[in-house]
Amino acid sequence: MASEGDVRARLRRAGQEHLLRFWAELEPEPRAALLAELAPLEPDALREHCQLAAAAYARHPDPRADLAARLQPLPPDRLGSASRSDTETRRRWEEEGFRQIALNKVAVLLLAGGQGTRLGVTYPKGMYQVGLPSQKTLYQLQAERIRRVEQLAGERHGTHCTVPWYIMTSEFTLGPTAKFFKEHDFFHLDPANVVLFEQRMLPAVTFEGKAILERKDKVAMAPDGNGGLYCALADHQILEDMERRGVEFVHVYCVDNILVRLADPVFIGFCVLQEADCGAKVVEKAYPEEPVGVVCQVDGVPQVVEYSEISPETAGLRGAHGGLLYNAGNICNHFFTRGFLEMVTREFEPLLKPHVAVKKVPYVDEEGTLVKPLRPNGIKMEKFVFDVFQFAKNFAAFEVLREEEFSPLKNADTSARDNPSTARRALLAQHYRWALQAGARFLDAQGAQLPELPCLLPSGDPPAICEISPLVSYAGEGLEAYLRGRELQSPFVLDEDQARLLGPQET
Ligand code: UTP
Repeated sequence: MASEGDVRARLRRAGQEHLLRFWAELEPEPRAALLAELAPLEPDALREHCQLAAAAYARHPDPRADLAARLQPLPPDRLGSASRSDTETRRRWEEEGFRQIALNKVAVLLLAGGQGTRLGVTYPKGMYQVGLPSQKTLYQLQAERIRRVEQLAGERHGTHCTVPWYIMTSEFTLGPTAKFFKEHDFFHLDPANVVLFEQRMLPAVTFEGKAILERKDKVAMAPDGNGGLYCALADHQILEDMERRGVEFVHVYCVDNILVRLADPVFIGFCVLQEADCGAKVVEKAYPEEPVGVVCQVDGVPQVVEYSEISPETAGLRGAHGGLLYNAGNICNHFFTRGFLEMVTREFEPLLKPHVAVKKVPYVDEEGTLVKPLRPNGIKMEKFVFDVFQFAKNFAAFEVLREEEFSPLKNADTSARDNPSTARRALLAQHYRWALQAGARFLDAQGAQLPELPCLLPSGDPPAICEISPLVSYAGEGLEAYLRGRELQSPFVLDEDQARLLGPQET
């Protein structure tokens, strides 16, 4: 292990020697822990990181003044739509997606290294359960969707196939996620097909460019953003693992979207048939001020432009059909070919510019007292997963219906939007719709028929509680066999046992 002298010399070179200012007071164990944390920080890179963070903060916010003139919506031939396409086209995309899955060419990759500070739980967000009747967590819902999509592809093509699940974690989420998966027997997936790997961490920095100590013996470190994916892929030879398995197409997604369709055959098939190397699922923006990034072009190059970078006038511009001109809302749901990811990790990763996030970072003051700041005091530098769109040779976007595919869990219930209640409602409303479409009717306790959607209760809840296991239906398919003509009482849970009891009936 590196000695104190070595580490001190390296920190001096980086202009960060203050990180050892409590050394004399520390016991042997915390000393060893601090050295272990500091030793891997390469002095030149650390100095550059701290200077960059302070300089970026000084320019922050950095409105891109000339942006409006350089902005264009995506050309129509680069944009597909699940809802606006005819049935035959959708069927062709889906068929192609299932074909690739059956050939074992598709993997899913979960970005799960975030700290989930807004939700405010001390464990990884994927372990959160939003209060469904089944009490399933986000991780379990995702695991079951993988199993179901494997089954559907396998049945269509008479094979047994695998969709490997790569999970990017961070120092915060790796340990608890690994433990959780073991405790739950990997939700009946083969552990060999669930690959956890860890992204890098970076020190949080003061506005003056000094790395922050969160304890006398611990630097305040934060994961390097979901765009840390590209370094992490290289660090852990993940692309080599994909190559060994024959994976050609990767579906990358965020942990917090309760409606996410893993390895969505329609999206995969669309991207493959478009010969896209890089693709993004989008939803129509709900209103001009909605704080989501927009997938568009800057100087003809595909990019995600953050809401804060566009003027209200530009955000409110209307297209020929009356809808918002810049309406392709980014939902962190992407398609990449393995070849594209190889190119990015090999050549382009260093060109990705980190973004500044100004945060409240707990720290120890000069006296060694822990301070929980009331105002932001630190900078975290993060790369974004979508910043690689600019390197695509053949970019494509695919629009899907928000109510079917996007409801993120970002905040605690104290916040009005994107919270556990909105996520739970989105899923239950979807399953209620699916059940009605399959021919079920719901009755109240007195036997009277409950209203059908779009009628939601004033709370936003659907009139009846209906939860359908992903193991029974991935996207609403196959439910007639169990539900057609049935009168059901709320709450109703269609899991595998219930499905066995109910059917399948003749359709
Ligand atoms: P968010 O930007 O919503 O961040 O992440 P978060 O960490 O989940 O939540 P807050 O901002 O602390 O409240 C979007 C997705 O990117 C992943 C998250 O796990 C989530 O799936 N992510 C984020 C990473 O994998 N690594 C990171 O460094 C940051």
